[in-house]
Amino acid sequence: MHPSVLSVSFAALLLLVPQALAAPFAAMALTPGGYRFSASIHEVPLDGHIAHVGSHIHVINATGQVVQVTSSAPRVPTPVPEEASGWISYASWLNSDPSPISSFTASWIVPPVPTAQHGQTIFLFNSIEPATGDAILQPVLQYGPSAAGGGDFWAVATWYLFGDQTFFTQPVAVQVGQPLTGNISLAGTHRATYSYTVSFAHIHSTALTIHGSAPLSWATETLEAYGINVALAGGVVPAVAWGNTDDVADGLTTTVDVDGATDAQITITY
Ligand SMILES: *[C@@H]1O[C@H](CO)[C@@H](O)[C@H](O)[C@H]1NC(C)=O
Ligand SMILES: *[C@@H]1O[C@H](CO)[C@@H](O)[C@H](O)[C@H]1NC(C)=O
Repeated sequence: MHPSVLSVSFAALLLLVPQALAAPFAAMALTPGGYRFSASIHEVPLDGHIAHVGSHIHVINATGQVVQVTSSAPRVPTPVPEEASGWISYASWLNSDPSPISSFTASWIVPPVPTAQHGQTIFLFNSIEPATGDAILQPVLQYGPSAAGGGDFWAVATWYLFGDQTFFTQPVAVQVGQPLTGNISLAGTHRATYSYTVSFAHIHSTALTIHGSAPLSWATETLEAYGINVALAGGVVPAVAWGNTDDVADGLTTTVDVDGATDAQITITY
């Protein structure tokens, strides 16, 4: 990390929700995908995992028992202002190589706590999605409250959103200045389905594995990160050019400081 970069813009903003918009409906709760219906948000128990089984999604606990069965519906737009959901500023890369992404890691430092406390929630993460965009797997650093818990402190958890269903691991508090590595890796393939493991390095309880997924091919960064690394199956390093999307009206920008698949660096400023 170059200290100068860190001091200019220490953090990314994915979702910063003003208090007036918080908890618009009692039956809804905040996720990295915006407000969603609480009944469709599920905690994955410690050392548990998720499996797609036909059109159902199973949550399986550490001893192999299915503890939850859900079916996913296409996500319906929620009655929440557009500004309270969706991504504000990010960088992304779509893998068009037939070889799947085998690993995608991003390292960053837990930023200072926000100077103004007004009930906001901030999510910072790297993530990966299928080409259809109907799912997302992400190690998430959060400040403020969300459906997973949290409060006026930074905490990490991993999340999997599929259609209208949301799954998360119990948040773990982290310290300002603590180095984090968000790690997404291909755990295996079975016929035409893929298994992925997402975790924060060295924070065991954030590990979450998804079986039976479509290939995840759209990699995104919504944070200031350095040491971003992408590899394809077989150890191939792809030619990566990160594209960026800004919300200029709100002064939120993403800068690709160092492009490529190895040790790329991206800064999001707010
Ligand atoms: C898994 O779930 C089963 C059934 O609910 C329960 O009996 C078992 O204790 C659970 N295992 C763990 C590790 O919590
Ligand atoms: C990422 O996770 C995979 C699978 O759990 C592991 O083999 C690998 O060592 C991890 N990489 C880092 C940088 O933590």
